[in-house]
Amino acid sequence: MTEISASVLTVEKDNATTIFYNLETGKVNYFHIDAMDGKFVPKNNLELMKDYALTISHISNLGLDVHLMVENVEEIADEYLMLEPEILTFHVEATKNEERTKNVIELIKNSGTRVGIAISPETKIEEIKPYLECIHMILVMTVVPGKGGQTLIPETLEKVRQLKDYITENNIDIDIEVDGGINDITSKQAIDAGANILVAGNYLVSAENISEAVKKLK
Ligand code: DX5
Ligand code: ZN
Repeated sequence: MTEISASVLTVEKDNATTIFYNLETGKVNYFHIDAMDGKFVPKNNLELMKDYALTISHISNLGLDVHLMVENVEEIADEYLMLEPEILTFHVEATKNEERTKNVIELIKNSGTRVGIAISPETKIEEIKPYLECIHMILVMTVVPGKGGQTLIPETLEKVRQLKDYITENNIDIDIEVDGGINDITSKQAIDAGANILVAGNYLVSAENISEAVKKLK
């Protein structure tokens, strides 16, 4: 079954609670928090995203799907783990070496949270293969990380397909999430390629009827 994770990256502060409410009643499965530090990606929105994550954890029954686009993974992960997210994802390009990556996986697991590893469009799937047995989700970036409202890069779906084949062949039970440029057309392509969790920001937040938009994505 396909699940939808609503990115709140581009939600304006003024009507944030209304949008959060509409997303939840529109039956998304998770709230996707995009934390950016101004180093791993140009923009810094750490304060706003923490604020949204805190609000959502107070008013919603849905789990947080936290996507860290930060260099100092350990520190920011610690802050989010206090909110007991459903899943916490960091970039393999941020942790870089195997020892550090494994330590971060342990850090997240020790808090009883599911672990995701994200790969940017230019990164080869070989980089994350060593970790697939011990994490819960692969986040395939379908745009260059950093901002919402971009167009999906078609080649990234080939990576989803390769990963799907690899996990099937090796009997690995893991979710594949796609993130960036997902709409009612690209959602179908992503699902066909093997993704089972779709992040959608702009498409949902700008929809006139969020509930209809969620149905179209699924
Ligand atoms: C991009 C973020 C995505 C993005 C999704 O760096 O990780 O979560 O905001 O937004 P849309 O669906 O608008 O591409
Ligand atoms: Zn994201």
